[in-house]
Amino acid sequence: MRARVESALVWLLCAAPLLLILAWGFTGDLTANPVEFVLRDLGLWGLRFLCLTLAVTLLAKYGRMPRLMRYRRRIGLWAFAYVTLHLLTYVVIAHEFDWAEIATDIAKRPYITIGMGAFALLVPLAVTSANAVRRKMSPRAWRKLHRLVYLIAIMGVIHYFLLVKADTSSPLLYGGIVLVLLAARMPLGSLFKGAGNRAVQR
Ligand code: HEM
Repeated sequence: MRARVESALVWLLCAAPLLLILAWGFTGDLTANPVEFVLRDLGLWGLRFLCLTLAVTLLAKYGRMPRLMRYRRRIGLWAFAYVTLHLLTYVVIAHEFDWAEIATDIAKRPYITIGMGAFALLVPLAVTSANAVRRKMSPRAWRKLHRLVYLIAIMGVIHYFLLVKADTSSPLLYGGIVLVLLAARMPLGSLFKGAGNRAVQR
């Protein structure tokens, strides 16, 4: 029973940003520029969920919260969902399937090129999250592939950094978070080992 409530709560927390966007859509509270607002909000939540996915491993291992590990895949898939919706908003609503314009954007705007690259890397991670696919891979290959999530998060931060025009404090903050999470997984991470939990698998 406790596990069910916990699972439902995690699901609700992951879906909350999307439900809020939908609610604001119905009440007409998506600001004067709704497309830009939705595009940016979904991108930001994509990046936040990517950071959260990375943080889960660390919290489970060093924060003595091994139960968190059972939600890592779900949180990672929500990151994928937010980034996919972000991309769909860009393709369907902002550019109305104008593929020539989109191709020009990808070629001419480095932040779009990097965003697309990050999305392309995210797809195989989402596909191999399915148990049936995971079982077909060796655990070593699976782990190696899923380490790409760090690179994807870094690309997400660069994408964000390149697109902001004046105040770079927010992308720099996310960059700092990703670097700390990455450093904690490197040999440097042994500094945290005191509270390590061997039961939690990487
Ligand atoms: C892992 C992949 C991605 C992440 C984490 C990500 C994240 C973000 C973030 C954090 C923002 C800024 C939000 C804000 O200003 O509050 C943003 C904006 C944006 N992203 Fe992405 N994004 C990704 C992929 C993509 C892709 C694939 C595209 C489209 C090809 C794209 C197009 C845009 C656009 C057009 C903006 C708004 C630019 C503007 O308003 O000037 N992003 N994204």
